[in-house]
Amino acid sequence: MTAMPWWKSGVIYQIAVSSFADSDGDGRGDLRGIIGKLDYLSDTLGVDAVWLTPVNTSPLQDFGYDVADYYAVDPRFGTMADFDELLGECHARGIRVIMDMVLNHTSEQHPWFAESRSSRDNPKRDWYVWRDGRRPGRPPNRWVAMVEGSAWEFDAASGQYYYHAFLPFQPDLNWRNPAVRNEMLRVVEFWLEKGVDGFRLDLINFLFEDEACRDNPRSFGWRPYFWQKHVRDRSLPESLETARALRRLTDRFEDRAMLGEVCTDDPAEALAYAGDGGDTLHLPFYLDFALRPWGAKPFRDAVAWMEGHVPSGGWPCYYLNNHDLKRTFTRFGGGSDADLRVKVAAAMLLTLRGTPILYYGEEIGMRQSAVPRGALDDPVGKRYWPLEKGRDGSRTPMQWSADPGAGFTTGTPWLPVDPSYPYWNVEGEREDPDSVLNWYRALLGLRRKHLALQTGTYRALDSMPRGVFGYVREADGRTVTVLLNFRGRTSEPLRLAEHAASSTEVLLSSRRRKRVAGGRDGLRLAPYEVLVFGATAPDEAQR
Ligand code: GLC
Repeated sequence: MTAMPWWKSGVIYQIAVSSFADSDGDGRGDLRGIIGKLDYLSDTLGVDAVWLTPVNTSPLQDFGYDVADYYAVDPRFGTMADFDELLGECHARGIRVIMDMVLNHTSEQHPWFAESRSSRDNPKRDWYVWRDGRRPGRPPNRWVAMVEGSAWEFDAASGQYYYHAFLPFQPDLNWRNPAVRNEMLRVVEFWLEKGVDGFRLDLINFLFEDEACRDNPRSFGWRPYFWQKHVRDRSLPESLETARALRRLTDRFEDRAMLGEVCTDDPAEALAYAGDGGDTLHLPFYLDFALRPWGAKPFRDAVAWMEGHVPSGGWPCYYLNNHDLKRTFTRFGGGSDADLRVKVAAAMLLTLRGTPILYYGEEIGMRQSAVPRGALDDPVGKRYWPLEKGRDGSRTPMQWSADPGAGFTTGTPWLPVDPSYPYWNVEGEREDPDSVLNWYRALLGLRRKHLALQTGTYRALDSMPRGVFGYVREADGRTVTVLLNFRGRTSEPLRLAEHAASSTEVLLSSRRRKRVAGGRDGLRLAPYEVLVFGATAPDEAQR
């Protein structure tokens, strides 16, 4: 058995830096706050890596995805010395640190953009994408921004439009300019030299757009962004080539990895970034999986797709929550069964073949918070309220305890703490054997103990009854069988005889089952039951 790299065998935990832990009472999370919680990450949970949302200097108009200085840490998060200390402390505990890297655009407050917009002949003019309008008052073409409206913003002073794939205060860098490319590669190298273990590349398939600015063909969808097929403004071959260049740079350093937000709901478009033999990004995201509706079949199908398409040198990467998505506690139906559903989801996420990414708070059952309009921070929510409430509801402060401020801050939190915190928090859940937290801990422990779960093969069990997703992981002659009942009712009998060896050992059971009668049919799973059992693989047993 060759040793698998950490990014294949490990579990990644995403920290929204603003919302995790506040060390200085200003109401916003910071790096020293994270340092104070490292025992939680390493001992209570036992995760292998953390991914930090952007920490670079930023006006924080979009949660830090609007960088004003790539070589510095925003003072609200701490100092460069704090960053170095966090890195050192993480490494001392065997935790890798993944940085969010926003290469597609900067903040409009970045000095480069200030120069660029200052005049048409400024040397930095060509660092961003400037074009003339089609005619007075008409943008250069029909491209739309992901959030809304034209992707072009008119700059009255210089009489031209600049391009922004996301919001108008996030002008796109012009990656066709070699000076921009060199500078951004230098940024990446700067942080690699500092010792970060990898990056989560924001909007990596958006770096390039058609040079001639040809329009996109029309399409259909529920909002303007989907009324076009994005063939001219995203996933251009040049972006893929740049991802390869980033891979070559990263490979000069030992044991680093790149996660990619390939922003598309087309999984094939995303997997292109895994390269033929995994020679591009280590872990491209799989948004389609995260967006599946609750049910055994949707997830079984999503996994089948990934297993059938991931290149041999590549590796799947799964997540269900992040700072852009509605939290699954609410999204999978909420109500009185919500905790049972997120436990099933967690069991799936942490036992599939692929690297799982957890999002802070999901391990304690944090829900989508109903952030009142007056407290909104996300520009998307402010713009679309009440039709679309934005992403603040999944970014509320981590709930550490029942203390005021949920133990997150002694000050006034930057987003209101969710009212569930007196009952749903780390401190309280630690003591409750049935808590969501202790369920995650059990699963993380199980994963650490069984090689089959970390790096083993995956085989779906067919002919499962409705509502049940079952599969077998195998490594070194040991199998681990996972059975998940996605429904709130007892399942039909399972036909297990052909799959389960006669001597099985229950590894984890949400119903505290002691044994599974292996080799026999007829097992019925209780509502939302999770059952994991291990055995020696049949061919091994025969030897
Ligand atoms: C990515 C980030 C999102 C951000 C956007 C613009 O999609 O995940 O939070 O708003 O890029 O940078």
